[in-house]
Amino acid sequence: MMKELIFKYEQYPSTRKLSQNQRLVLKEAKKALKKSYSPYSGFQVAAAVELANGKILSGANFENAAYPLCLCAERVVLAAAAAEYPNVKILRMAITVKSKEHPQTKPAAPCGACRQVILETEQKQKNPLELILQAEKGDVLVIPQGGTLLPFGFDADALAGK
Ligand code: THU
Repeated sequence: MMKELIFKYEQYPSTRKLSQNQRLVLKEAKKALKKSYSPYSGFQVAAAVELANGKILSGANFENAAYPLCLCAERVVLAAAAAEYPNVKILRMAITVKSKEHPQTKPAAPCGACRQVILETEQKQKNPLELILQAEKGDVLVIPQGGTLLPFGFDADALAGK
């Protein structure tokens, strides 16, 4: 039997249609680009999260001369939230990118590893984690449930044989 998955997201030409909170978290992500430690790729990625207690945390990619150890901005900020507020739900995450080489106008989506961690976060907190993506300028994508970026992701059910 052929089955189909439907993936829903919003796309806007600017931030005008975003709510105040969405705009604020995106602004914090853009401010966090300066935290990027990316001497090897020259590609800055920053992410900010809004927590259910009203706090906003941000982080950026954190590279290493041993390349596979590079940490993505998304997982840096999710780890920071887990360290500071382990039991507080994460409502939304904004992600932005900037490159030394060329101006970025296309929103960059989280890599596969980050999608896996976003999915786990949603399952842990039993609440959707909204993603807001915009490059330096250009289109804005809003993905209401970040885990939907990873259909058939590996999860605790698999470990339990469910
Ligand atoms: N990067 C992120 O921070 N997030 C992603 O989802 C994809 C890639 C970083 C890792 C590395 O520092 C640089 O972007 C180039 O891959």
